[in-house]
Amino acid sequence: MIINNAMKQAIKWTLAVLLTLSAAPMWAQWGAPADPFPGIHLKDAYKDYFMIGVALNQRNVSNEEQIQLTKKEFNSITAENDMKPGMLHPKEGVWDFEKADKIADFCRKNGIKLRGHCLCWHSQFADWMFTDKKGREVKKEVFYQRLREHIHTVVNRYKDVVYAWDVVNEAMEDNPRPTFVDGKFAPGSPYRQSRHFKLCGDEFIAKAFEFAHEADPNALLFYNDYNECDPGKRDRIYDMVKKMQDAGVPIHGIGMQGHYNVYGPSEEDIDAAITKYSQLVKHIHVTELDIRMNTEMGGQLRFSRGENKPVAGYMNTLLTDQYNRIFKVFRKHKDVIDCVTFWNLGDSDSWLGVNNHPLPFDEKYKPKQAYYAIKNFDAKLDNAKPKEDFVPNPCNQPGQEWPQVNSEGYARFRVEAPDAKSVIVSLGLGGRGGTVLHKNKDGVWTGTTEGPMDPGFHYYHLTIDGGVFNDPGTHNYFGSCRWESGIEIPAPDQDFYAMRTDISHGNMQKVLFYSPSLGKMQEATVYLPAGYGKLVKGKGGKMMQERYPVLYLQHGWGENETSWPVQGKAGLIMDNLIADGKIKPFIIVMAYGLTNDFKFGTIGKFTAEEFEKVLIDELIPHIDANFLTKTDKWNRAMAGLSMGGMTTKLITLRRPEVFGYWGLLSGGHYAPEEIKDPTAVKYIFEGCGSKENPAQINKSVEALKAAGFNAEGLVSEGTAHEFLTWRRCLYLMAQRLFR
Ligand code: XIL
Repeated sequence: MIINNAMKQAIKWTLAVLLTLSAAPMWAQWGAPADPFPGIHLKDAYKDYFMIGVALNQRNVSNEEQIQLTKKEFNSITAENDMKPGMLHPKEGVWDFEKADKIADFCRKNGIKLRGHCLCWHSQFADWMFTDKKGREVKKEVFYQRLREHIHTVVNRYKDVVYAWDVVNEAMEDNPRPTFVDGKFAPGSPYRQSRHFKLCGDEFIAKAFEFAHEADPNALLFYNDYNECDPGKRDRIYDMVKKMQDAGVPIHGIGMQGHYNVYGPSEEDIDAAITKYSQLVKHIHVTELDIRMNTEMGGQLRFSRGENKPVAGYMNTLLTDQYNRIFKVFRKHKDVIDCVTFWNLGDSDSWLGVNNHPLPFDEKYKPKQAYYAIKNFDAKLDNAKPKEDFVPNPCNQPGQEWPQVNSEGYARFRVEAPDAKSVIVSLGLGGRGGTVLHKNKDGVWTGTTEGPMDPGFHYYHLTIDGGVFNDPGTHNYFGSCRWESGIEIPAPDQDFYAMRTDISHGNMQKVLFYSPSLGKMQEATVYLPAGYGKLVKGKGGKMMQERYPVLYLQHGWGENETSWPVQGKAGLIMDNLIADGKIKPFIIVMAYGLTNDFKFGTIGKFTAEEFEKVLIDELIPHIDANFLTKTDKWNRAMAGLSMGGMTTKLITLRRPEVFGYWGLLSGGHYAPEEIKDPTAVKYIFEGCGSKENPAQINKSVEALKAAGFNAEGLVSEGTAHEFLTWRRCLYLMAQRLFR
């Protein structure tokens, strides 16, 4: 058989759909570009919220590609290491400004603001300040004199470009241990037991801020720390800053380092920390944001460097979700947050090691899903609260309460998995990997989609710690080459497939037939309209059985002969049309179309030839021999969805003598020149969802009409490559067949 170019295009197009849908989670909407706002970068997206910063190293400011990326995305820079005391001031009287100057000059040249990091820290510090020439500990006054000189020199050198300084870094204790003194337990010190603290007590904090303020009264001065959302450490930070401020120490801002992980902290803890800090300061900066793919967090310098090589898909979803959630919290606090800085440019720069994949840009500086989630946020959803009218989903097994859906199209899930580390539902708002559930106090995982879902039926599954499972709450539906969970979001027009009590219903019959060409049994489901087989008065008053036209209706890739009857609701659609007098009854045969036996990667080789043999030489004769059918081509139609549309197109074009009505549902289109004999087909239907590629359908239908064909198109409003699209297509197409 010859496949011409137009057919090849159709095959490629359809397979692109199929591959997208099977490779990506189910909500991924085919046809939607990866980035609907390519001209908008992080700093632009957040211009009404806060600055977006990045920590840079020397390689970043020497590489043209990385320079361009930095300029496009960020409007604040921090030197990752080059302005730390130990780097600038390794010995008394010895200064090394070269690297810091390079970063400062980069900022000056490009008009980007610089955050100064940092003036006083227990690590990467100028430890010589603590001892004299003989190595003996100096008095705190000597230390203060040296610290003052350091701070003045550095602040003065960069005051034209640095707008904020992390003056003191990490002075608070992570886990204060109670001490046993004089037969009693005393609470542990809230302060880190650093050399600074041991020499000066907490006075060194006050001194550092005072020196910085003297040097540049215009600079914003920050106290910066990690694990700042942990309620205990948060309160220690709060108490210290409050104490200092009460004593007149010029602390203007709190830096929340933000070294988080995919599991935490929770939105509630982040929100509570920001709220608490904002009682003390007018400026909060998130100073060192990154999100690890393990359970560690914080700024401690000992950590595992990540085991995730290559990164698992579900981990990426957790990363995206965590970034999405925390930025939502940050946006809520835009009044007090004025800068959010990522700690490093791309994963390969990360201090945590590339295999933690902690940043929005990957090791090749390509944006990840997380980047798009951060950038392309929907401000409308920031404060959206779903209506609390959730009811059990119609797809649930009898007696199962969960999942639930509300009247706006939100879905809410509940899964019991007490020992799991992560539970993800493969459904949610477009392009982001689904809805990540969170564990409540009872060990139960719950979560609600971020916004309303498209109306209609959706397949879904759970990913629990990377393993794929069905939701025990729902019935199973055959899709993705296996039985998946399903959910039904109420559609405005759902009456056309409603199960009505006031009408007669047809029957679905399972048919087994032997296929000599395949050498095995095959299955099909046959819809027989209400009244099928009854004796009716025929010509001349003779009692007889009526005969019916037949529609051969194909499912898509990953589906089978149960998909149209169950999730497609083909029988109910027919029953309602017949009962309302909109159509004359006909039979539908829904056979397994061999689509799942097709191997990906061999796109050009899909010919549907095997199924053509089964259908035309085996199934149709079997149906005609066993059912009350009309057997001529004007009483036979073929249609299919997605890969079934592709099958339909190939077979109808090759065997126009068999079918008189043709339909493609999100499954490509016919070009007039492909149809050799224009009288071979009485009606052509083409349809798809408005979120697919409607322009292509509209264009094709116009071209067919212009060439004199009786063609009709349908663009299903608000739906994608899913069953509501195809239910609507069947509903319209059925009214035109066999007329
Ligand atoms: C890190 C740097 O990223 C590493 O390159 C360096 O080896 C250690 O310091 N908290 C801080 C940052 O305030 O300065 C630290 O930066 C990370 C933790």
